[in-house]
Amino acid sequence: MSLITKSLMKFARQRFALDWDGYHGVSYWARVRHNGLLLAEHTGANAKVVEYFAFIHDLGRENEHHDPEHGHRAAEIATQLAGDLIDVTAAELRLLQHACTWHSDGHLEADITVMTCWDADRLDLGRVGIRPDPQRLCTEVAKNPEMVIEAYERSLR
Ligand SMILES: [Fe+2]
Repeated sequence: MSLITKSLMKFARQRFALDWDGYHGVSYWARVRHNGLLLAEHTGANAKVVEYFAFIHDLGRENEHHDPEHGHRAAEIATQLAGDLIDVTAAELRLLQHACTWHSDGHLEADITVMTCWDADRLDLGRVGIRPDPQRLCTEVAKNPEMVIEAYERSLR
């Protein structure tokens, strides 16, 4: 069963300041989740953290463009939700906070779970007209040409 509960979605709807159906909205989060769970099967990432990352990492965005603080805001949201709407251990929360905080800074190295989160997000760049560049991905499985192309095609739908 998905960890993305009705109450978490209700919170997200209230918290998210942008277009629910826009570039950074719910269908994008669902694709990041899809990418992340595919990657996690191979990377061994913590799938719970990956799933929560997908639905939280852009929740604190205040615009669709340049918003350098939104990762930090997402980490704060994760902290606020821990033990309530999201079910994480202290170690999982640390991974989720790290993944959220630094997800849009182009980093390539971190814990495998964090790198899986970042790749899941970057594989969806087609939605803004960017073909994911393997050199900007962290994990070998994400760099696989088939993975890149399939994620790119999903992002365009
Ligand atoms: Fe983001």
